[in-house]
Amino acid sequence: MAIKAEGLAKAAEARRKEQAQYWVYLDGEVKHYEDARLGLMTHALHYGTGVFEGIRGYWNPEHEQLFVLRLREHYKRLQRSVRVLKLKIPISLDELCKLSVELVRKNGFRQDIYIRPIAFKSSEEIGVRLHNLKDSFAIYVTPFGNYVDIERGIRCMVSSWRRIDDNVAPPRAKITGIYVNSALAKTEAMDNGFDEAIMLTQDGHVCEGSAENIFLVRDGKVLTPPPQDNILEGITRTGLIDLLRQEMDLDVVERSIDRSELYVADEIFLCGTGAQISPVIDVDRRPVGDGKVGPVTAQLQKLYFEIVRGRHPKYRDWLTPVY
Ligand SMILES: Cc1ncc(COP(=O)(O)O)c(C=O)c1O
Repeated sequence: MAIKAEGLAKAAEARRKEQAQYWVYLDGEVKHYEDARLGLMTHALHYGTGVFEGIRGYWNPEHEQLFVLRLREHYKRLQRSVRVLKLKIPISLDELCKLSVELVRKNGFRQDIYIRPIAFKSSEEIGVRLHNLKDSFAIYVTPFGNYVDIERGIRCMVSSWRRIDDNVAPPRAKITGIYVNSALAKTEAMDNGFDEAIMLTQDGHVCEGSAENIFLVRDGKVLTPPPQDNILEGITRTGLIDLLRQEMDLDVVERSIDRSELYVADEIFLCGTGAQISPVIDVDRRPVGDGKVGPVTAQLQKLYFEIVRGRHPKYRDWLTPVY
């Protein structure tokens, strides 16, 4: 046990040292991660007053190319999130995309990566509000593998934590502070021996995972909760709805979903930039379908990974090449 812990600590230290040398962007300057420093009083650290994005890049060894997935869509969502928190990013949409690609290129990554832009209130002062504060904007990039299992399937629990409501803090905006809701649910699930949480809305409908949107397959139809059920309007979700309809000829219905539909669904999967497509094989200790990865999920996964790695010409416009 002690040897394993020591190994983990050494690996974490090696990662930290590597990360320290990556190039990041902070308020107009490109510098090493270790030189991009923020003060202890930074507003967003205390009050959650930031908005962010998570963007993946996939390495394609045949073409020796790194493809960034749905770059523009992510920055469009960031621009919408920014409006909710009265933040300002003094950079145009085109420039944001260009800046991100340049940063990845400067780091020279030849592997799967994750890009994290974040806009936040950076004044170093006390006081809960959104107005009369300094805004900052940063981007870091880091190597990134799988976030949750995508092969054997995961086991989920319905969380005792409800999803926050649009009139509490709007989940449509990717606000840093809101993620405490997800963190409570995720840790509760893992402490109870599950892999992931499924959160319900205040009125008891299925909402989403801690950092993923959710889809169910029932009697050949695909169901997913609508935006008014307090989901994050996921970019993967929108893309998958198109693929299910156009490439797999399936009926996709956006409607409120009852908790017990999770127990009678034929298939369930979670999706997101980080999670990609993660099959759910068990909810609250009830097997989903026959407890194995279902055919719709498997086919969709195959198609998705062809697309994101740049092996499907029809969907090349989802990708921005870095090199
Ligand atoms: C709460 C939540 N829901 C859904 C998603 C999936 O969104 P996307 O597909 O845009 O990554 C994420 C991931 O960012 C998330 O954090």
